Amino acid sequence: MKVAFSNVTKFVEPQDSSEIRYIHTVTLSDLNFGLYNYKLDDGKIYSFELTDSGPEDEQTFLIYGDFGVENSQCLGAIKSLVDSEDADMIWHIGDFAYDMFDDKGKNADRFMNMVEPIASSVPYMTIPGNHESKYNFTHYESRYSSVSKTNPFYYSYDYGNVHVLHFTTELYFYPDQFSEQNIKDQFDWIQQDLKAAAENRKNVPWIITTGHRPMYCEAKSNSAKCKEDTDPLRVGPYGLEKMFNDFGVDVAFWGHVHIYERMFPLNNKQFEKQPLDKYDNPKWVTHVITGAPGNKEDITTDMTDRPDWSAVRLEEYSFTTMTASHETLTIKQWSKDETPKIIDQFQITKISE
Ligand SMILES: [Fe+2]
Repeated sequence: MKVAFSNVTKFVEPQDSSEIRYIHTVTLSDLNFGLYNYKLDDGKIYSFELTDSGPEDEQTFLIYGDFGVENSQCLGAIKSLVDSEDADMIWHIGDFAYDMFDDKGKNADRFMNMVEPIASSVPYMTIPGNHESKYNFTHYESRYSSVSKTNPFYYSYDYGNVHVLHFTTELYFYPDQFSEQNIKDQFDWIQQDLKAAAENRKNVPWIITTGHRPMYCEAKSNSAKCKEDTDPLRVGPYGLEKMFNDFGVDVAFWGHVHIYERMFPLNNKQFEKQPLDKYDNPKWVTHVITGAPGNKEDITTDMTDRPDWSAVRLEEYSFTTMTASHETLTIKQWSKDETPKIIDQFQITKISE
């Protein structure tokens, strides 16, 4: 048995300085592949498996945004996929707990306890959404700093056949909290990261991004800029759509709208018509919104008509998996049932360079 000690940081509740939390971060180094059991001081045994997943293998990522404590409809379904070892890691694309700061942060504690059965056994990778903005994102930043060696707002890594870049759309929408320099720093970092990933495609064929607010959407009531031609996230000096297409991002996953929607490959509101079940060598980015695992704001139903570039839109509780082999991405949308059912599925294929 090995013992590892934590680094401890103190988090003083911004709403009440007498509420103090201690965040423990433990780094385990020199691990071999295999199953690990571990326990904290509370004595409870947890486990995770470290697998050697390479280009010959398939990797599966379980993906959603907008997951709350109340009305967490898909929790059982998500657990059952993780338990059946059908998911290597989770990507939670912003908006946690609804909201983390509520009840002086106790709602974030509840959320983290709620996801503990999954987050203790597979990596739970995160970026923030608009619901984390209160108190300068501190409830998010203090709890999830360990997702990245640099910062929990933008970071990337390779896993098997996938290079994933997690970034924060919220930098564009809170001028009182983020400066133009903050937006530029992230923009420059994304550019150099995607350039390096594009040059490494031979080894890691797929480039995936996750960000909270989508570039395209049809929600009427959402204060989203994604319906507008001037969305700063998409176009303008720090707009990302052209860059994503220039470097060949394959799929951009988003949350924020509480539905599932996948688009045909898109570039500046032009789309490439493809068969519904298989996008072959797509020219542009495929956008997927997956914000429907359940929260107290419920499913978004106040939507405008679907534009031609929208391939499938489902206004029901659900979440996503993406399985990557060297030649194929398989994206599935799953129902909230305890034994989840596939409610949409499509593949993206391309000829490797
Ligand atoms: Fe949101």
